[in-house]
Parts: sequence; C-alpha cells; structure tokens
Amino acid sequence: MSDVVVAHISDVHFGGRADLAQLAVLERFLSAFGPQIIVVSGDLTQRARHGEFQAALRFVTDLGRLAPVHLVPGNHDVQWWRTPFGILGRRVLYQKWRRYFGADPTPVLELDDVVVAGMCSAHGLALGSMTPNLNDMTVKGHLPASEVARVRALFAAVPAHKIRLAVLHHNVLPGVVSRRWGLARPRAAQALLLTLGADVVLCGHDHTEGAGQIDGRLAVSTAGTHSVRTRGGLPSAFNLLRVDRQRIQIEHYCYARDEQTFRRGDTVILPRTRGAAGIVGA
Ligand SMILES: [Fe+2]
Ligand SMILES: [Fe+2]
Repeated sequence: MSDVVVAHISDVHFGGRADLAQLAVLERFLSAFGPQIIVVSGDLTQRARHGEFQAALRFVTDLGRLAPVHLVPGNHDVQWWRTPFGILGRRVLYQKWRRYFGADPTPVLELDDVVVAGMCSAHGLALGSMTPNLNDMTVKGHLPASEVARVRALFAAVPAHKIRLAVLHHNVLPGVVSRRWGLARPRAAQALLLTLGADVVLCGHDHTEGAGQIDGRLAVSTAGTHSVRTRGGLPSAFNLLRVDRQRIQIEHYCYARDEQTFRRGDTVILPRTRGAAGIVGA
C-alpha cells in the first residue's frame, strides 16, 4: 500500500474574513500534491449567510476538481439563533448547510484505501455545549455519544485495511497558542474518541495548526485557518497527511504572503496504533 495523501484545511470563513488571494494560491498549491482526498473541517462561512455559502460552494466545487472533498459544518455554519436550545428542532440548524452541501451534514466518503466519516460537534446554542464561561455560548461544541457510536459501527463494518479518518469541527486537543479546548467536557470527548477505531481524528476551530495524540495512541490533525483571523500573528497553515501501513505523517504548510506560496513548516510523525488497539491494521 502506498501513502494515502489527504489535504486537511479548515476555517475559511467566507464573508469578509476569508483571505481570497491566499485561497487562490492554496488551490494552485494543492493541485501539485495530487491528494486523494481534501477534508474541510468546518467554518466555511462567518454568519451562515446565503452569499457566504455561495462563495463556499464555488470554492468547494473548485477543490472537487482536484480530489473528492469531505466537509462538516462548524459553529459559524449553523443558524443557532433560529432554534435556541433546539426549541424548533435540530434540522433548522443545518437548513442552509443542507441546501448547499447536501442533506447529510455528517457525510461518509469511502474510497479503495480510506474511509472518511463526519461527526457533528456544532450544535448551536445547546445545553451540552455550555460551560461556566458565557463567552463560550454558540462557540464551543460538544460530541454526543450517539455520534461516536454511529461512526464506531461504521468503522467496524468496513474492510480492515482501510484507513479510518474521523472529522469534526471543534479541536480535540488544546490550541497550541490559545491553550483552549474546542469542546465542552473535552476529557469525556477524548475518552469517547478513543473508542472509535479511528486512525486519525481531523479537526479545526482553533485557527492554529497542530498535530498530536490523545492518550499517546490516537493521532489528531488540527488544521489552521485561511481567514485573516490567525492567532498570535502566525501565518495561515493547512496540513498534509501521508498515511501508510506504519505511520501517520502530518506536515504543516504555512502561507508565505510575500512569496504568494506555502512553505513547509514542522512535520510530526506518529505511529499507526489501531492494530495495537486490537483492531487489525492494514
Ligand atoms: Fe473558525
Ligand atoms: Fe469554529
């Protein structure tokens, strides 16, 4: 089995904050890698407006000419004000998202060597996403056990050799600069994620790139942002994942504005541990 190459980007935020010049460079840059899959881990829009979704759809359609695109909604992509605490049902949250990106906000993409499963962490104004900090309202997410159970069953049913990627919007490791978690009750969420049978969890939301592991055994790729809202004055970045039988290589590519290109930054190499966890690896 040769490397599976996955481009992981996040938090484009169409609607005034997206760096359009950078996105044009990104599209050209990605075409050179020939990724098998492009994952976009949410926050495509700023305020879930039609014009923002239309720009996002054009962008995703362009990416789709390079490779199949898998995407999930972020907290900025849901219309939380239309159904606070779910009083009018949860479908309303994702109404616009569905109009532009299809009926299922947590899609599954299966290719010969890899399966990508979305999980919803963006639930708007919801009890499960609340923390004692009122500033977190509608910003933090939560990971329902039912989402994990659904994807665990899905992963258990696909052939053992396939690389399993689980995608959600909110960061599941603390931000490198912010030190903030994306999810309410993050330790409980991490414990659930460890039961998934995933090879890698892909997330965003923190606007700073990162790579690491949960409990030393589950790889995590956190993509940065292509909006102008980076943290600490750091450049925008996306991740390129190369996964083979033994390892997961996560390369950060940082935007060099003056040169109108992306430069390779840090690389993190992690072992594939799913086999060691009792599930037969590739
Ligand atoms: Fe964001
Ligand atoms: Fe977000």
